[in-house]
Amino acid sequence: MALDKDLYEKPRNVTDINDCIFYHTMDIPEYGYVEGEFDLRGNEDKYLGGVDFKGKRVLEIGTASGYLCFHMERQGAEVVAFDLNENYPWDIVPFAGFDSHGLVSEYREGLRKINNAFWLCHKVFNSRARAVYGTVYNIPREIGEVDIATFCATLVHFQNPFAALQGALSLTREKVIVTDVIWDRLLPYYILSFLPKPHMTFIPEHNGFRFPDTWWFLPPALIKKYLGVLGFRKTTVKYFFQKYRNRKWLAYNVVGTRTL
Ligand SMILES: C[S@@+](CC[C@H](N)C(=O)[O-])C[C@H]1O[C@@H](n2cnc3c(N)ncnc32)[C@H](O)[C@@H]1O
Repeated sequence: MALDKDLYEKPRNVTDINDCIFYHTMDIPEYGYVEGEFDLRGNEDKYLGGVDFKGKRVLEIGTASGYLCFHMERQGAEVVAFDLNENYPWDIVPFAGFDSHGLVSEYREGLRKINNAFWLCHKVFNSRARAVYGTVYNIPREIGEVDIATFCATLVHFQNPFAALQGALSLTREKVIVTDVIWDRLLPYYILSFLPKPHMTFIPEHNGFRFPDTWWFLPPALIKKYLGVLGFRKTTVKYFFQKYRNRKWLAYNVVGTRTL
């Protein structure tokens, strides 16, 4: 069994903002305003499905620069922030003839800087959150049980989203929050997802859409099925708009409550 000190990352002392990448737009004391791809400011409650975090232990999958982690902490949660680091590569779509290895190295450097952003904020916000690095398919059981697991803007990046949910939810006692954006180009899939049975849509196109880090479109109805199989049969689905790169996009979240 891993000891606490081996399981949780030792906080990095990061003070150079130029060695960071911010995925989230943030206002950071001492450093000021930083612009990221996603601006969750003021939309946190909608993004997290209106769940009450007071006194809850939370496993946050894919914390990136940690905006949600620090938010949930301010709401009274104890957060375990889980993410990749430079030792654990993204699930890159292996397009033949495409330099996936080069891309993995690029992502590795990006992850180092995103992890740095988390640690810079962790210090400035006096956070007590703990970080665990690894891949979502192998979440250490030594983390122990949590009350809530969050999968925000993450599942579509996993080659096997069901396995990812299965691992995290085996540690989760009460609730799971799944949030994602429905990009405009995916709206037709959203509409089609109502016919005839909820299904996942494979997004990569060898002669078209080449974002190598996105595998699936997963409609809320399918997420509900996944959660039902895993024992979270009471679900609510909500839609809202989320700011990404100066535009508002349709987004959804599914909150599942454990019933079994
Ligand atoms: C789009 S960001 C979402 C950040 C944050 N959850 C939010 O909603 O604003 C995706 C996150 O998932 C993480 N991630 C991607 N693949 C992963 C994997 N296989 N295992 C664990 N984390 C992964 C990324 O490193 C990144 O932090």
